[in-house]
Amino acid sequence: MRIVLVGPPGAGKGTQAAYLAEKLSIPHISTGDLFRANISQGTPLGKQAQEYMRAGQLVPDEVTIGMAEDRMGHADAASGFLLDGFPRNLAQAEALDGYLRDNELTLDAVLDLEVPEAEVVKRIAGRRTCRNDSAHTFHVEYKKPKVEGVCDVCGGELYQREDDSEETVRDRLEVYHSQTEPIIDYYKAQGLVVTISALGKVSEVTQRAMDALAAKA
Ligand code: AP5
Ligand code: ZN
Repeated sequence: MRIVLVGPPGAGKGTQAAYLAEKLSIPHISTGDLFRANISQGTPLGKQAQEYMRAGQLVPDEVTIGMAEDRMGHADAASGFLLDGFPRNLAQAEALDGYLRDNELTLDAVLDLEVPEAEVVKRIAGRRTCRNDSAHTFHVEYKKPKVEGVCDVCGGELYQREDDSEETVRDRLEVYHSQTEPIIDYYKAQGLVVTISALGKVSEVTQRAMDALAAKA
């Protein structure tokens, strides 16, 4: 299956993607995680992305699209993938369509996670992220690690992402509404969108997503 996950910052895309990718046996491809891995490794790509991320703005398409296409071309993505955080504007959605067309592939669904803004702010304010792998995320209230400040998965140190400050979250939400939300209509025109509520327990949202994807298939 080829799925795009869309939703505001803090909706739970990364959290759900980890479970869905495992259940569907497809890789979870997060452009945010790829950028953070490049930043922590000090690569030229990471250096290009860092300032934009810190400000809550989108990294330029020239950088992002090449990185995403490169990742989708890996062998583990040959039979499908779950995209999280890409595409994030219309130019990226058109580039993805071009990539799929060139490779004679199609998307199966665009899963839209709906969550009220007040909940998003609570989720982001309490999020703690692993220094070793930003896909390992916790929450001080909703998903506590077994040992405070330590990642359950790999033992890494947990920290608060620099772009999770209240001010930057407001900017990220603004970017989401103005640049990312239009891709939902773009995909609606292709009949691909399934919208679910992302409220409730993590496991309940996963089940809702699996049911919605099964109904779409
Ligand atoms: P990215 O890393 O993609 O961030 P985002 O879209 O803002 O999403 P988040 O990671 O903040 O949230 P999430 O929805 O994954 O929520 P999570 O599961 O962690 O992008 C960061 C930056 O990179 C961008 O600002 C941009 O600069 C750049 N970038 C990335 N992709 C790009 C692109 N394509 N083009 C250009 N630039 C790009 O959950 C949040 C918290 O809530 C966690 O603590 C979790 O434990 C908790 N939680 C989750 N589900 C529940 C639940 N059901 N109940 C209670 N708590 C929950
Ligand atoms: Zn970890």
